[in-house]
Amino acid sequence: MPAFGMGTWNMGDDSRARAEEISTLQLGLDLGARLIDTAEMYGDGRAEELVGAAIANRRDEVFLVSKVLPSNASHRGTLAACDRSLRRLKTDRLDLYLLHWRGNAPFSETLAAFVELQRAGKIRHYGVSNLDLDEMKELWSAPGGPAVQTNQLLYNLSRRNIEWDLLPWLRQHRIPTMAYSPIEQARLLADPALVGFATRHGLTPAQAALSWLLAREDILVIPKTSNRERLKENLGALKHPLTAAQLAELDRLFPPPAGPHPLEML
Ligand SMILES: NC(=O)c1ccc[n+]([C@@H]2O[C@H](COP(=O)([O-])OP(=O)(O)OC[C@H]3O[C@@H](n4cnc5c(N)ncnc54)[C@H](OP(=O)(O)O)[C@@H]3O)[C@@H](O)[C@H]2O)c1
Repeated sequence: MPAFGMGTWNMGDDSRARAEEISTLQLGLDLGARLIDTAEMYGDGRAEELVGAAIANRRDEVFLVSKVLPSNASHRGTLAACDRSLRRLKTDRLDLYLLHWRGNAPFSETLAAFVELQRAGKIRHYGVSNLDLDEMKELWSAPGGPAVQTNQLLYNLSRRNIEWDLLPWLRQHRIPTMAYSPIEQARLLADPALVGFATRHGLTPAQAALSWLLAREDILVIPKTSNRERLKENLGALKHPLTAAQLAELDRLFPPPAGPHPLEML
């Protein structure tokens, strides 16, 4: 999976922003950000429709990720939800299909549907999102569980709790983590500690926050922006790998967890 992807939550909601949103996603593809993360939930399908318009005639350039809502995650519900997502995205396949978070459907049903979709060529890989350690262990013991390719999680400098036990478990099982809300929906960018760090090191706060994530093993980032200039700024994180000294400085400013915490999600 590409390390830098583009999020799409809240895209497609405002028709006046449509042209800019499409051209931002297309610029991302031009500049090598080949992963697009979306979900049936976002704008009740409007984000998927917008992505479909952005990737028309460019499907092979994209690693396309979408998600099934827990309320649709029964066996039959997952199969039907995937078909709806494919129609909105105007494609015949997803590269990665995720369970958005845990609901009432047993993991075994969702996994059985994922395997069926995979056999039918409608999804290449499958994974999960917002699962805590106990849920990951339960998933792992179900048929098809060990084939999950990612757990997409809330992770950024101000949300490091998963480092206590979930991330080590995922690494041990060779499951990469997709870090969502990597700049804490822009709130992190006003944090004085981050602003100070970024200023000292000639970065923008967004670049510092994204570079920190990109320096970590098995972590992908999927920041969302509907703005071409901010997209270029964010992609600049790839050109500014942080040194060991800079990472240590960020550890002092944003300390890792000192114990277990319940999983946070947005
Ligand atoms: N699995 C899940 O449960 C889950 C939950 C949340 C998110 N996600 C996924 O992860 C993606 C990213 O998370 P997110 O959208 O919640 O938050 P985010 O990427 O941390 O932040 C997005 C916000 O930051 C702004 N922004 C982006 N770059 C900026 C920059 N350089 N300077 C200033 N502002 C900037 C954006 O506004 P502009 O667009 O105006 O630039 C937007 O308001 C989502 O879009 C979605 O695909 C998944």
